[in-house]
Amino acid sequence: MDTRPVGVFDSGLGGLTILKTLSQALPKEKLIYFGDTVNVPYGSKSKAAVTRFALDIARFLEKQKVKLIVVACNTASALALAELQKKISVPVIGVILPGAMKAAQCTRNGKVAVIATEATVQSKAYPRALKRLDKRIHTYQRACPVFVPLIEEGWIHKKAGEQIVADYLHGVQQSKADTVILGCTHYPVIKKKIAACLGKEVKLVDSAQVLAEEVKTRLAQTDQLNPSGRGSMKIYASDAPARFKRLAKNILGRELRRVYLKKLN
Ligand code: DGL
Repeated sequence: MDTRPVGVFDSGLGGLTILKTLSQALPKEKLIYFGDTVNVPYGSKSKAAVTRFALDIARFLEKQKVKLIVVACNTASALALAELQKKISVPVIGVILPGAMKAAQCTRNGKVAVIATEATVQSKAYPRALKRLDKRIHTYQRACPVFVPLIEEGWIHKKAGEQIVADYLHGVQQSKADTVILGCTHYPVIKKKIAACLGKEVKLVDSAQVLAEEVKTRLAQTDQLNPSGRGSMKIYASDAPARFKRLAKNILGRELRRVYLKKLN
Protein backbone atom coordinates (compact mmCIF):
# COMPACT_ATOMS: atom_id res chain seq x y z
CA MET A 1 0.00 0.00 0.00
CA ASP A 2 1.26 3.47 -0.92
CA THR A 3 -0.62 6.61 0.15
CA ARG A 4 1.43 9.00 -2.00
CA PRO A 5 -0.48 10.92 -4.71
CA VAL A 6 -0.42 10.37 -8.48
CA GLY A 7 0.77 13.43 -10.42
CA VAL A 8 -0.92 14.44 -13.67
CA PHE A 9 -0.07 17.36 -15.94
CA ASP A 10 -1.00 19.09 -19.17
CA SER A 11 -0.33 22.42 -20.87
CA GLY A 12 -3.69 23.61 -19.55
CA LEU A 13 -7.21 22.29 -19.35
CA GLY A 14 -7.19 19.40 -21.84
CA GLY A 15 -5.61 16.94 -19.41
CA LEU A 16 -8.72 17.23 -17.26
CA THR A 17 -10.32 14.70 -19.65
CA ILE A 18 -7.64 12.25 -18.52
CA LEU A 19 -7.93 13.30 -14.87
CA LYS A 20 -11.67 12.60 -14.97
CA THR A 21 -11.14 9.04 -16.28
CA LEU A 22 -8.29 8.43 -13.82
CA SER A 23 -10.42 9.51 -10.87
CA GLN A 24 -13.19 7.14 -11.99
CA ALA A 25 -10.77 4.23 -12.43
CA LEU A 26 -8.86 4.98 -9.21
CA PRO A 27 -11.44 6.51 -6.85
CA LYS A 28 -9.31 5.95 -3.72
CA GLU A 29 -6.20 7.74 -4.99
CA LYS A 30 -5.04 11.27 -4.26
CA LEU A 31 -4.54 13.05 -7.60
CA ILE A 32 -2.49 16.20 -8.11
CA TYR A 33 -3.05 18.02 -11.42
CA PHE A 34 -0.88 20.76 -12.85
CA GLY A 35 -2.16 22.87 -15.78
CA ASP A 36 0.63 24.93 -17.32
CA THR A 37 -1.61 27.85 -18.27
CA VAL A 38 1.28 30.31 -18.43
CA ASN A 39 2.90 28.35 -21.27
CA VAL A 40 -0.16 27.02 -23.13
CA PRO A 41 -0.37 26.20 -26.04
CA TYR A 42 2.41 23.60 -26.26
CA GLY A 43 1.20 22.56 -29.71
CA SER A 44 2.91 25.44 -31.50
CA LYS A 45 6.19 25.34 -29.48
CA SER A 46 9.56 23.69 -30.09
CA LYS A 47 10.73 20.41 -28.61
CA ALA A 48 13.31 22.23 -26.49
CA ALA A 49 10.71 24.55 -24.97
CA VAL A 50 8.13 21.83 -24.29
CA THR A 51 10.82 19.60 -22.72
CA ARG A 52 11.88 22.45 -20.43
CA PHE A 53 8.27 23.12 -19.32
CA ALA A 54 7.61 19.40 -18.79
CA LEU A 55 10.77 18.92 -16.71
CA ASP A 56 9.94 21.89 -14.48
CA ILE A 57 6.46 20.49 -13.82
CA ALA A 58 7.69 16.93 -13.25
CA ARG A 59 10.24 18.24 -10.73
CA PHE A 60 7.51 20.15 -8.93
CA LEU A 61 5.39 16.98 -8.80
CA GLU A 62 8.41 15.01 -7.55
CA LYS A 63 8.63 17.51 -4.67
CA GLN A 64 4.97 16.78 -3.88
CA LYS A 65 6.16 13.18 -3.36
CA VAL A 66 4.07 11.62 -6.10
CA LYS A 67 4.48 7.89 -6.75
CA LEU A 68 3.92 8.12 -10.52
CA ILE A 69 3.46 10.87 -13.12
CA VAL A 70 0.96 10.83 -15.98
CA VAL A 71 1.74 13.15 -18.89
CA ALA A 72 -1.87 13.98 -19.78
CA CYS A 73 -0.80 15.89 -22.88
CA ASN A 74 -0.10 14.39 -26.30
CA THR A 75 2.30 17.16 -27.25
CA ALA A 76 4.44 16.78 -24.10
CA SER A 77 4.26 12.97 -24.41
CA ALA A 78 5.39 13.14 -28.05
CA LEU A 79 8.21 15.62 -27.44
CA ALA A 80 9.44 15.13 -23.87
CA LEU A 81 8.54 11.67 -22.51
CA ALA A 82 11.96 10.09 -23.11
CA GLU A 83 13.73 12.97 -21.37
CA LEU A 84 11.32 12.84 -18.41
CA GLN A 85 11.80 9.09 -18.04
CA LYS A 86 15.58 9.65 -17.98
CA LYS A 87 15.59 12.49 -15.47
CA ILE A 88 12.68 11.88 -13.10
CA SER A 89 12.95 9.44 -10.21
CA VAL A 90 9.39 8.02 -10.37
CA PRO A 91 7.73 6.21 -13.32
CA VAL A 92 6.39 8.57 -16.01
CA ILE A 93 3.60 7.39 -18.35
CA GLY A 94 2.54 9.22 -21.52
CA VAL A 95 -0.60 9.08 -23.66
CA ILE A 96 0.84 8.16 -27.08
CA LEU A 97 1.44 4.43 -26.61
CA PRO A 98 -1.94 3.68 -24.96
CA GLY A 99 -3.75 5.51 -27.81
CA ALA A 100 -1.70 3.77 -30.50
CA MET A 101 -2.31 0.35 -28.90
CA LYS A 102 -6.04 0.87 -28.85
CA ALA A 103 -6.07 2.10 -32.46
CA ALA A 104 -3.97 -0.85 -33.65
CA GLN A 105 -6.52 -3.19 -32.02
CA CYS A 106 -9.49 -1.34 -33.55
CA THR A 107 -8.52 -0.88 -37.18
CA ARG A 108 -9.87 -3.40 -39.68
CA ASN A 109 -8.57 -1.84 -42.90
CA GLY A 110 -5.12 -0.84 -41.54
CA LYS A 111 -5.81 2.87 -42.12
CA VAL A 112 -5.57 5.05 -39.03
CA ALA A 113 -5.91 8.83 -38.91
CA VAL A 114 -4.50 11.04 -36.17
CA ILE A 115 -5.82 14.50 -35.38
CA ALA A 116 -3.54 16.44 -33.04
CA THR A 117 -1.57 19.63 -32.48
CA GLU A 118 1.03 20.78 -35.00
CA ALA A 119 3.92 19.70 -32.74
CA THR A 120 2.48 16.21 -32.19
CA VAL A 121 1.93 15.77 -35.93
CA GLN A 122 5.45 16.98 -36.77
CA SER A 123 7.03 14.68 -34.17
CA LYS A 124 5.53 11.62 -36.01
CA ALA A 125 5.19 9.97 -32.59
CA TYR A 126 1.88 8.28 -33.51
CA PRO A 127 2.88 6.95 -36.96
CA ARG A 128 6.08 5.55 -35.41
CA ALA A 129 4.27 3.92 -32.47
CA LEU A 130 1.66 2.44 -34.82
CA LYS A 131 4.30 1.05 -37.21
CA ARG A 132 6.11 -0.55 -34.29
CA LEU A 133 2.87 -2.23 -33.20
CA ASP A 134 1.90 -3.36 -36.70
CA LYS A 135 3.97 -2.49 -39.74
CA ARG A 136 1.00 -2.84 -42.11
CA ILE A 137 -0.74 0.18 -40.58
CA HIS A 138 -0.83 3.30 -42.74
CA THR A 139 -1.25 6.58 -40.84
CA TYR A 140 -2.75 9.85 -42.07
CA GLN A 141 -2.19 12.91 -39.85
CA ARG A 142 -3.99 16.25 -39.62
CA ALA A 143 -3.09 19.12 -37.31
CA CYS A 144 -6.17 20.97 -35.97
CA PRO A 145 -4.62 23.94 -34.11
CA VAL A 146 -7.83 25.95 -33.88
CA PHE A 147 -9.73 23.26 -31.95
CA VAL A 148 -8.03 23.99 -28.59
CA PRO A 149 -9.06 27.66 -28.16
CA LEU A 150 -12.53 26.96 -29.58
CA ILE A 151 -13.05 24.13 -27.06
CA GLU A 152 -11.69 26.11 -24.11
CA GLU A 153 -14.00 29.02 -24.82
CA GLY A 154 -16.99 26.83 -25.64
CA TRP A 155 -17.21 28.31 -29.18
CA ILE A 156 -16.89 24.92 -30.83
CA HIS A 157 -20.58 24.37 -30.07
CA LYS A 158 -21.61 27.37 -32.20
CA LYS A 159 -22.41 27.22 -35.91
CA ALA A 160 -18.94 28.44 -36.94
CA GLY A 161 -17.43 25.63 -34.82
CA GLU A 162 -19.29 23.01 -36.84
CA GLN A 163 -17.94 24.38 -40.13
CA ILE A 164 -14.38 24.40 -38.79
CA VAL A 165 -14.67 20.79 -37.59
CA ALA A 166 -16.00 19.75 -41.01
CA ASP A 167 -13.17 21.56 -42.86
CA TYR A 168 -10.45 20.06 -40.69
CA LEU A 169 -11.88 16.56 -40.98
CA HIS A 170 -12.27 16.62 -44.76
CA GLY A 171 -8.83 15.05 -45.29
CA VAL A 172 -9.54 12.44 -42.62
CA GLN A 173 -12.63 11.38 -44.58
CA GLN A 174 -10.61 11.25 -47.81
CA SER A 175 -7.97 9.07 -46.13
CA LYS A 176 -10.58 6.27 -45.70
CA ALA A 177 -9.30 5.62 -42.19
CA ASP A 178 -11.67 3.41 -40.21
CA THR A 179 -10.05 4.48 -36.91
CA VAL A 180 -9.25 8.01 -35.79
CA ILE A 181 -7.02 8.82 -32.82
CA LEU A 182 -8.08 11.92 -30.87
CA GLY A 183 -4.43 12.87 -30.43
CA CYS A 184 -4.97 15.88 -28.18
CA THR A 185 -6.43 15.67 -24.70
CA HIS A 186 -8.88 18.48 -25.50
CA TYR A 187 -10.57 16.60 -28.34
CA PRO A 188 -12.63 14.05 -26.32
CA VAL A 189 -14.77 17.06 -25.34
CA ILE A 190 -16.01 17.26 -28.96
CA LYS A 191 -16.12 13.52 -29.60
CA LYS A 192 -19.84 13.67 -30.48
CA LYS A 193 -19.25 16.45 -33.02
CA ILE A 194 -16.37 14.55 -34.62
CA ALA A 195 -18.44 11.34 -34.68
CA ALA A 196 -21.38 13.17 -36.29
CA CYS A 197 -19.05 14.47 -39.00
CA LEU A 198 -17.20 11.20 -39.72
CA GLY A 199 -20.12 8.80 -39.39
CA LYS A 200 -20.65 5.89 -37.06
CA GLU A 201 -18.55 3.38 -39.05
CA VAL A 202 -15.42 5.30 -37.99
CA LYS A 203 -14.07 4.31 -34.57
CA LEU A 204 -12.81 7.19 -32.42
CA VAL A 205 -9.99 6.38 -30.03
CA ASP A 206 -8.78 8.39 -27.08
CA SER A 207 -6.06 7.33 -24.67
CA ALA A 208 -7.86 8.00 -21.39
CA GLN A 209 -9.37 4.57 -20.67
CA VAL A 210 -6.35 2.51 -21.78
CA LEU A 211 -4.05 4.85 -19.90
CA ALA A 212 -6.11 4.63 -16.70
CA GLU A 213 -6.03 0.82 -16.92
CA GLU A 214 -2.26 0.91 -17.39
CA VAL A 215 -1.78 3.18 -14.35
CA LYS A 216 -3.96 0.86 -12.27
CA THR A 217 -2.10 -2.26 -13.40
CA ARG A 218 1.31 -0.68 -12.77
CA LEU A 219 0.37 0.45 -9.26
CA ALA A 220 -1.17 -2.95 -8.49
CA GLN A 221 1.91 -4.82 -9.74
CA THR A 222 4.22 -2.81 -7.50
CA ASP A 223 1.80 -2.94 -4.56
CA GLN A 224 1.42 0.84 -4.71
CA LEU A 225 -2.37 1.22 -4.75
CA ASN A 226 -4.03 3.05 -1.87
CA PRO A 227 -7.06 0.78 -1.25
CA SER A 228 -8.18 2.48 1.95
CA GLY A 229 -7.68 6.05 0.70
CA ARG A 230 -10.52 8.56 0.43
CA GLY A 231 -9.68 9.89 -3.01
CA SER A 232 -9.05 13.57 -3.69
CA MET A 233 -8.01 16.04 -6.38
CA LYS A 234 -5.73 19.03 -5.92
CA ILE A 235 -5.46 21.34 -8.92
CA TYR A 236 -2.66 23.80 -9.67
CA ALA A 237 -2.39 26.26 -12.56
CA SER A 238 0.72 28.28 -13.42
CA ASP A 239 -1.36 31.36 -14.33
CA ALA A 240 -4.91 32.75 -14.11
CA PRO A 241 -6.42 30.13 -11.76
CA ALA A 242 -9.82 31.85 -11.78
CA ARG A 243 -10.05 31.53 -15.58
CA PHE A 244 -8.93 27.90 -15.31
CA LYS A 245 -11.66 27.25 -12.75
CA ARG A 246 -14.30 28.87 -14.95
CA LEU A 247 -13.28 27.04 -18.15
CA ALA A 248 -12.72 23.68 -16.41
CA LYS A 249 -16.48 23.40 -16.26
CA ASN A 250 -16.59 23.13 -20.08
CA ILE A 251 -14.41 20.01 -19.78
CA LEU A 252 -15.33 18.35 -16.50
CA GLY A 253 -19.00 19.23 -16.65
CA ARG A 254 -18.85 20.37 -13.03
CA GLU A 255 -17.42 23.17 -10.91
CA LEU A 256 -13.96 22.75 -9.33
CA ARG A 257 -13.82 23.77 -5.68
CA ARG A 258 -10.43 25.47 -5.81
CA VAL A 259 -7.53 25.98 -8.21
CA TYR A 260 -4.18 26.93 -6.64
CA LEU A 261 -1.79 29.31 -8.37
CA LYS A 262 1.72 27.85 -8.65
CA LYS A 263 4.44 29.71 -10.54
CA LEU A 264 7.38 27.43 -11.23
CA ASN A 265 10.13 29.98 -11.81
N1 DGL B 1 -3.64 19.17 -24.50
C1 DGL B 1 -2.54 19.29 -25.45
C2 DGL B 1 -2.28 17.96 -26.13
O1 DGL B 1 -2.84 16.92 -25.74
C3 DGL B 1 -2.78 20.33 -26.51
C4 DGL B 1 -2.95 21.76 -26.08
C5 DGL B 1 -1.74 22.62 -26.40
O2 DGL B 1 -1.45 22.91 -27.56
O3 DGL B 1 -1.09 22.99 -25.44
O4 DGL B 1 -1.51 17.91 -27.04
